[in-house]
Amino acid sequence: MDTLKVALLGCGNVGSQVARILLEDADDLAARVGARLELAGIAVRNIDSPREVDLPRHLFTTDAETLVKGKDIVIELMGGIEPARSLILRAIEGGSTVVTGNKALIATHGQQLYAKAHEAGVRLAYEAAVAGAIPILRPIRESLSGDRITRVLGIVNGTTNYILDQMDSTGAQFADALKAAQALGYAEADPTADIEGLDAAAKGAILAGLSFHTDFNLDDVYCEGITKVTADDIAAAKDASMVIKLLAIAEKLITEDGTEGISVRVHPTLLPRTHPLAAVHGAFNAVFVEADNAGQLMFYGQGAGGAPTASAVLGDVVSAARALVAGGPWRLEDTKAEIPALPLSAVTTSY
Ligand code: HSE
Repeated sequence: MDTLKVALLGCGNVGSQVARILLEDADDLAARVGARLELAGIAVRNIDSPREVDLPRHLFTTDAETLVKGKDIVIELMGGIEPARSLILRAIEGGSTVVTGNKALIATHGQQLYAKAHEAGVRLAYEAAVAGAIPILRPIRESLSGDRITRVLGIVNGTTNYILDQMDSTGAQFADALKAAQALGYAEADPTADIEGLDAAAKGAILAGLSFHTDFNLDDVYCEGITKVTADDIAAAKDASMVIKLLAIAEKLITEDGTEGISVRVHPTLLPRTHPLAAVHGAFNAVFVEADNAGQLMFYGQGAGGAPTASAVLGDVVSAARALVAGGPWRLEDTKAEIPALPLSAVTTSY
């Protein structure tokens, strides 16, 4: 049986679970792929940092640049823009398939990375970048590729859904609900990217690009977080049989002057309590998709956390590895359409 060499960049919550699965489930994965996936090394900043998973010390290195050389698959789970971007480019130029969970990087530098991957004839996959364990990018890109998506509504940030859900169910003020989210480990010590909507906006840009066969980046997304939502707002919504959710929305609209474009936005949104997304509680994520022929679909699950997000990473790894065994990489990206991102003023929709 052939062996495919895998490099892992980053060993935080998700990276350590990916390493665990690659090692513990090596025989199962080999049977599914038709080749062994050999974890050749794990690049970290500090080899002695405490980790949730006990992993063989000889796998660790601080030399990420050397590690990415000559690997079949490079998994990037460092987060942030640099050095992740440079290492991914180096891996692509070296002919490696790349799997990443880095939403900020894909939402800001995705076009450059797809173009390089296309040029090099390698695959770049990033299912884990949006909504953790929920299979959502592959269904949009593949299962619905023969349909026409008209709207995507996503609860794609668990921290803010937890906070709004606490406010709705207990009457808590924003600041107290945020403290509860931090105590449970959902919100970071610095929760800015979550509560200001930036994390959801990066995911919204990725969902919008794939759904409408074009490229959007973070600058195309109108973004408003949940910091101004008060207990009174939540109570007023409740009185009107509505709920407030932070949604990432991408929808096709035609403006008054006849311009067709896509509105991509993140903001607190009033939803009827009967809407399927109103039933998404706690830190769970869900993405509601409407398409011309499929109608309405909803994808639900854990949007964060080590093992759930590692599940999405491994899905991309197995899929890419199967393609390599069969002589792939098999192209993932669409031919891109030219379609504008519309300003907020074009929106007249309610749900
Ligand atoms: N901070 C994110 C969330 C983690 O709360 O959903 C997953 O991207």
